[in-house]
Amino acid sequence: MCGIVGYVGNQSVVDILLDGLEQLEYRGYDSAGVALQTPDKLDVYKAVGKLCNLREELKHHTDETRKAIMGIGHIRWATHGAPTVLNAHPHTCNCGNLVVVHNGIVENYKELRELLTAKGCVFKTQTDTEVVAHLIAQKYALSKDLTEAVRLAVKDLKGAYALCVMHKEEKNKLVGTKLNAPLLIGVGEKENFFASDVPAIIKHTKKAVYLEDGEIATLTKDTYSVIDSDGNVVEKKVEMLPWEPVALSKMGYKHFMLKEIHEQPDVIRNILTGKLHTPQDNVILNEVKLTREHLKNLNRIQIIACGTSLHAAMIGKYLIETLCGIAVDVEASSEYIYRRTVTDEHTLVIGVSQSGETADTLTAIKQAKAKGSHILIITNRPDSAMAREADSLVPVNAGIEVSVAATKSYIAQLVSFYLLAIYMAEIKESANEYLLLSLKTDLMILPQKIEQILSHKEEIQKCAKIYSGTKDFIYIARGINYPTALEGALKLKEISYINATGYPAGELKHGPIAMLDETMPVLSILMKGCVYEKLLSNSEEAKARNARMIALTNSEDEKLNDLFDFIIRVPDVQDLLSPILAIVPLQLLAYYIAEFLGKDVDQPRNLAKSVTVE
Ligand code: F6R
Repeated sequence: MCGIVGYVGNQSVVDILLDGLEQLEYRGYDSAGVALQTPDKLDVYKAVGKLCNLREELKHHTDETRKAIMGIGHIRWATHGAPTVLNAHPHTCNCGNLVVVHNGIVENYKELRELLTAKGCVFKTQTDTEVVAHLIAQKYALSKDLTEAVRLAVKDLKGAYALCVMHKEEKNKLVGTKLNAPLLIGVGEKENFFASDVPAIIKHTKKAVYLEDGEIATLTKDTYSVIDSDGNVVEKKVEMLPWEPVALSKMGYKHFMLKEIHEQPDVIRNILTGKLHTPQDNVILNEVKLTREHLKNLNRIQIIACGTSLHAAMIGKYLIETLCGIAVDVEASSEYIYRRTVTDEHTLVIGVSQSGETADTLTAIKQAKAKGSHILIITNRPDSAMAREADSLVPVNAGIEVSVAATKSYIAQLVSFYLLAIYMAEIKESANEYLLLSLKTDLMILPQKIEQILSHKEEIQKCAKIYSGTKDFIYIARGINYPTALEGALKLKEISYINATGYPAGELKHGPIAMLDETMPVLSILMKGCVYEKLLSNSEEAKARNARMIALTNSEDEKLNDLFDFIIRVPDVQDLLSPILAIVPLQLLAYYIAEFLGKDVDQPRNLAKSVTVE
């Protein structure tokens, strides 16, 4: 979490930093700050709340800020210390000559704070970051070289960090380094950038250098250089970024979330391109290196992920077990990393992550890799830390997702799992060929079906209006759509703050049914297939307790009209593929409810898109 931007060059430093931070707001938005180096001094400006508050604050200082020749900026998602002006970054050393912005957590900050206090440093904030400012300042006092001071200081740090540092005496120099948190260099013409992520720089340059853990980069207006932790020069490859600035615009939609929901048909088309030519062809996954021999020797598959990606993983388990006959476990990364897992060279470990940065999943992947497992990563960011750990990669090609609530990246993860499961089944010859043929045929026509749903949004808007006053919401489903219920509920709670829960419908009578009365909406994901009749019975049970019944269905069954108060219909689709269609109305329902309630849809409270701390 937290976003960093650094800039040295001839353009307006304040504008570059603020625009860059705006593009990183998805990483955190509880306070923001910049430090600006003018020819004769170093100024720090901070504000609590969203970036617009810092923009307002800076408007009162334009005479000073326009003189800036370089600067660093930060957008915060608080971990240590409340989101106050004092705790907002940048942080300074005692003399105020050195400033630092930080993303990550310094785990040994308490010990360092004691040591530094004993040496005379005075701490003003509750943050872990302030120790970094003092520590680098101490090393600088000896070396008088900012790069060297950073190199020496980080040897004392434990935890995760991306740092960007500036010193009043070094008027044309920015220094950055990282460990288990992202930081890249944007290489421009007579200007250079540091950023936590591509969106902050893409308007200015498409050339980037990705830093590896432990590397230290020094930027001037005209040059960049990188050394390793021992001080040896490292030659870095300049990569051309595939992003287009237009991806960062709302394109006329009120919110990024709505735009991203509407992009889903094209996202599916993009993923299928090059991977599935016709239903008769085998699936092609060029970056998956699993051989027939390898699959034969597998004992099990473990899929690890968090949040929405975890729900995609659960559907992945259903598919792989159904089509490949291999046992699959799915686990939240945060649980996986703190127990003894049975993982070895006969285990395939699949990490799923939109951002490719999530700290818990990254740690889990590294642990599994150390045990000799083949690592397969499904991610929307082939340039991410997780992708770099991969033995096999499935890039999900959803394009950049700005809204904090994941939508198109989820659909993309689902489609990736379908392709992967079919791909493995084709290698293993473990599934009926007519089933595979029909899955591939229907996958290819899913984009049109989603377009049909998107062109009839009024019904969902109507439903949202009716139920937007509720305090609680229950989603029920069975079989392959149980994770759809979890994901629908997660979407609603994260952007509307309504207490929404997904249940496997068969579990209702084992406890949750006690909550049902005439105030409780129960949304039943009633897709035709092997559990349809069972779910219908579970819905009857809920109806008998007077719950406000809503159906999401592809069935024309007349009985539904008596059982449900509201019916959301989706086009017909085979059971195994139904999660891809069923989630779309649920995303829209969450969106419209949040919109009716006037919530900040794209940046819900307390959340950040990229969770780079454990
Ligand atoms: C919810 C959401 C989160 C993420 C989770 C994992 O809309 O986006 O639950 O899915 O934080 O993030 P990634 O997929 O980047 O590892």
